[in-house]
Amino acid sequence: GVAGGVEPVTTRFEQPLVVPSTRRGADIRLVMRRAKVRTLPHGPRTSMWTYDGSYPGPTIRRRGGRGTEVTVVNRLPRGAGSMSTHLHGDHHASADDGQPTTQLIRRGDERTYDYPLMVDGRPEPGSFFWYHDHRMDRTARNNWRGLQGMFIVTDPPTPGLRLPQGRRDVPLMVSERSFTAGNQLTDPFADGPEMSGHHGDMSWTGPDAPPDDATIGDKVLVNGRYAPYLDVSATRYRLRLLNSSPFSSYNFTLSDGRPFLQIGTGSGLLPRAVVRSSVLLGPAQRADVVVDFSGATGQRVVLGSVPASSGETGDDARESAVMEFRVGAPAADASRLPSRLPSPRLVSPVPSKVTQTWTFGLEESAHHGSAWTINGRAFDPGRVDHRARLDTVERWRFRNTSDVTHYVHIHAEQWRTLLRDGRRPPPWERGLEDTWRLEPGEEVEVAARFTDYTGPFMIHCHMLDHEDHGMMARFDVAP
Ligand code: C2O
Ligand code: CU
Repeated sequence: GVAGGVEPVTTRFEQPLVVPSTRRGADIRLVMRRAKVRTLPHGPRTSMWTYDGSYPGPTIRRRGGRGTEVTVVNRLPRGAGSMSTHLHGDHHASADDGQPTTQLIRRGDERTYDYPLMVDGRPEPGSFFWYHDHRMDRTARNNWRGLQGMFIVTDPPTPGLRLPQGRRDVPLMVSERSFTAGNQLTDPFADGPEMSGHHGDMSWTGPDAPPDDATIGDKVLVNGRYAPYLDVSATRYRLRLLNSSPFSSYNFTLSDGRPFLQIGTGSGLLPRAVVRSSVLLGPAQRADVVVDFSGATGQRVVLGSVPASSGETGDDARESAVMEFRVGAPAADASRLPSRLPSPRLVSPVPSKVTQTWTFGLEESAHHGSAWTINGRAFDPGRVDHRARLDTVERWRFRNTSDVTHYVHIHAEQWRTLLRDGRRPPPWERGLEDTWRLEPGEEVEVAARFTDYTGPFMIHCHMLDHEDHGMMARFDVAP
C-alpha cells in the first residue's frame, strides 16, 4: 500500500455492498421490528431491531420543500421498551423532533412525524440526514441493535451542476458492531448504569468509569455488511459518507492515495469543493465527496480508516479497512466536477458577542463518582438550560474541559461555524453543520438564526454513551 493508506492484506472483501431500498412518497410507514439480516459473509444471519426489516432501514429520498410524513410503528419484541425516532439534521417542529422522554412510541403504538423540508419559507437545501432512535438512556443500545436509516433531501436540478447520480450516487453508512461466535450482536450494555426516571444524578462508582464509557465494535460494517465490495466503473462516483457508530471516529482514506473531492457536509454543499487526502468523521458526522476512479481499471481501491495525523489530541480515529472498490472499465460519464457550488445559506451578520457558552466536561463528586456534564450538570429533561428567541441570531461557544474528544450536536437548526480555536475554520467546515468535533481544550463558535419553530430542543454529545449518561442539555425557543 501507499504511505498513509490502509493495508488490505488482513481483510478479505467477500460480500457485495448493499444499497438500502429507497422510499420516495409523501406518506412513509416504517415498522420497527426484529428481523434476521445478513451482516457477516458466512454463517447465520444476525437478529437485529430494524426499521421495516432491514439494517439500515430504507433510505428516504425527497425533494426539498415536499412535505413528508413518516409514521413509525413499534412492533419490537417485549422488553425493548418505548422508542423515539429523530431525524438528525432536519429542521422541523419540536413536536416532531423525537424528544428523548416526552414523545415515546410504546410497543404496539405508532407516531407520525411531520417533516415539511422547509426552512424559513424556502425548500430545505439538498442534504444527507439520517434517522435513528433517540430514547433517553437507551440510545446507544437501540442504535447498536439497528434502529438507523438514511434520509436524503434532494435539490431541484441546478444548471451547471452535474454531480454523479443514480447508481453513481452511493450512500455509505459506516457503523461498527461486535458479534458472538453465532453471528449475533454482543450486548455491551448489560452492565451499564441502571436506568431510572431521574437523570439529574447519573453516576458511576469508580472515578475511571466515564472515560471507558465507550461502545466500540470490532467489525466495521458498511450499509450493514462487514467488509463489502462494490463494483464500479472507472468514472466519478458521489459517496455520501455517514459515521453512525456509537463512539468511534474514522479518518477515511483510499489505499492508492486517490483523493476525495469534498463537495458538502451532511447539511448541504460547501462554498467551494475541497481536495482532501483524508476525511475525519466522528459519530453522526457526514461528508459528501466525489471520487474519480478513472485510470484505475483492474485495480482494487480500499476505503479505510487510519489514525488521524499528528497534532490531534483526544481520541484518535480507529484503524481499519472498511470496504473495497473493484474498478472495471471506463464508462460514459455525464457528470462534471463543479468548480463553483451554489452558496450555502450562511447566517449574516452574526452577533459580535457570544450569547451562550456550553462547556462539555466531567464532574467528579465524592458521593456519586463522576458524570458527563454540560455546564456542570447532567441532563434533566425538565430543566431549561438556555432560552433562545425565534427570529433571533444566536452565537454559541462550545468548550471542552474534559480530557477526551466530544462530538457536539445541536437539534433544530443548521449552523455556520465561525471560529475553531479563535481561527477561521478549515475549508471543509465552511458550510452548514450540525455536529462538530471538540477536542480537549478546544473552543468552537457557531451561529444560527432560530426560525419557524418554538419549544424544547436538545444539544448533546453524539457519542451515544456520553449522551445516555448525562451529556445532553435542553434549550427552548420562545416566540
Ligand atoms: Cu443524531 Cu440528538 O441526534
Ligand atoms: Cu462525548
